[in-house]
Amino acid sequence: MSKKETIISADGIDADVLFTEFKEHSVADFFKKNRQMLGLYGKQRTLTTIIHELVTNSLDACEEAGILPEIEVQISEIDKEYYEVAVKDNGPGIPENKVGNALGKLLAGTKFHRLVQTRGQQGIGVSGIILFSQITTGKPTKVVTGTTKDKTIALEISIDSKTNSPKITNKQTLEKKHRGTIIKSKFKEIIYKKGQNSVDEYLRRTAISNPHASIKFQDPFGEVTEYPRTIKKLPQIPKEVKPHPRGVSVDEMLSFARHSQARKVSSFLSQSFDRFGNKAIENVGKFVHFDINKDPKKLTWEEAEDVVKAIKETKFIAPNTDNLVPIGQKHIEKSLRAIVEPEFVFVTTRKPSVYKGGYAFQVEVGVAYGGGSGRLVSVDKKADEDGPRETRVSEIIRYANKAPLLFDAGACGITKTVQSVDWKRYGISNFDNAPVSVFVNVVSVHIPYTSAGKTAIADEDEIVTDIKLTLMDVSRKLGTYIIQKKREAEKKEKRRVFSKYVPEIVAALSKSTGKNKELLEKNLMTMVLEKLKLDEEEDKKIEQSEDAKK
Ligand SMILES: Nc1ncnc2c1ncn2[C@@H]1O[C@H](COP(=O)(O)OP(=O)(O)OP(=O)(O)O)[C@@H](O)[C@H]1O
Ligand SMILES: [Mg+2]
Repeated sequence: MSKKETIISADGIDADVLFTEFKEHSVADFFKKNRQMLGLYGKQRTLTTIIHELVTNSLDACEEAGILPEIEVQISEIDKEYYEVAVKDNGPGIPENKVGNALGKLLAGTKFHRLVQTRGQQGIGVSGIILFSQITTGKPTKVVTGTTKDKTIALEISIDSKTNSPKITNKQTLEKKHRGTIIKSKFKEIIYKKGQNSVDEYLRRTAISNPHASIKFQDPFGEVTEYPRTIKKLPQIPKEVKPHPRGVSVDEMLSFARHSQARKVSSFLSQSFDRFGNKAIENVGKFVHFDINKDPKKLTWEEAEDVVKAIKETKFIAPNTDNLVPIGQKHIEKSLRAIVEPEFVFVTTRKPSVYKGGYAFQVEVGVAYGGGSGRLVSVDKKADEDGPRETRVSEIIRYANKAPLLFDAGACGITKTVQSVDWKRYGISNFDNAPVSVFVNVVSVHIPYTSAGKTAIADEDEIVTDIKLTLMDVSRKLGTYIIQKKREAEKKEKRRVFSKYVPEIVAALSKSTGKNKELLEKNLMTMVLEKLKLDEEEDKKIEQSEDAKK
């Protein structure tokens, strides 16, 4: 008895005293303290994340407005670990009355509440960046934006982190019109470096997955890299979808019901969800323990639970997948050829599927091999007859809704799936050290990111299975190419060895037999060519029987 008392007794400070410290804080204050959750940590990583947030916004805005994106990125060094970043787009611009909340308020935007395939999804990308700029430099971010209706305005924006609200200063109308948005921000505690996780690599990958975009980048040394668009046609504009009943939780059901304009639960269900037809409503009506014609705003938790249970017992057509906009096999192939310059490339876009029962997704996988494929790690400048020798290792280029994922590779479902493939079966004995680029793009109206930093995708079973099956499909093609290449090399080597030794054998034979050198050489070459032809025929037979087995 006495022991128990000591464990749970509260002989310490009184709760009233402790709770004098009780305070509410805003989401902006939270992320100010936890900026690592937005991917804003590590000097190089932070800079790449800044570019990622700004460029994804520009691409999303252009695509939603049906504009072929023209994006310019400029990074200028102000001082040591102190830079100015500017991103300019030709998008739809931001209306004057929305610009404050769009850029200067965390968890606000046009995407979070909609199921539509966009790169951004949370409403904290650019606002997180503006907050980071002001906490490292004390300076506001400069914005120029113009829409077709409004005049072009310039303003400075910062965030009041206590209230998570925008502070706009120096607003003025510009004489010179600009349709689109320019965001210019200063940052300390960042560094510009070339290499694996650099802005350069991020933009190279963005160019691969967005062949319809034109991207220009000026680095702090003034060096300009341009990625002209390789296709002139805009991708289909992603459309918003309603949620599929299978993916909805009780809490979401209640919250949808509270905001519905419908007067009956039955019409609320058919209006708010995809695929909720009359038959499904009838079935739900039979299953639940309340009148399906009641006002959805009056739905209780228990009744919402009843509806969700009824949904589980009801047959629905699979979610609508027409609204997914993959890059497309031909376009990826074209980009990979133009940017990676491989020897071999093969790409497959798989048919759409559904994960967690409610979200449509689609997977695209490509492999590029040889040439400029893989990541260059060193160049041996001591040129041999084929020129300088490059050492390349494999790279996995991951994308979510066409936006490159550069960080947290180990935690990503895509990496795990690529690494789980038995590459030896496809002619690659050591995947890590092979000159191969594996391209994976997952598109969805809701990407299951593992964190707010949007750097890795969760390994949802259905997504992993689709990536794996598509990977096996493209890898088989790669395997056939590698085997053929090996055979060609062997044939070439055989021809080289024979032609090297024929003159020596001829000389020896002519000496010992006294026969005419030219005649001997002619006969011997005929024999050699005959032998090579026989070998080739034999190889062909083996190839054909292997193909037949497949
Ligand atoms: N360049 C731009 N052109 C037009 N609108 C923009 C641009 N950049 C941002 N916006 C608007 O500002 C909103 C907020 O952007 P923000 O990056 O904070 O969030 P998001 O893109 O919606 O989601 P995420 O946090 O996942 O990036 C966007 O939803 C969009 O409406
Ligand atoms: Mg964004």
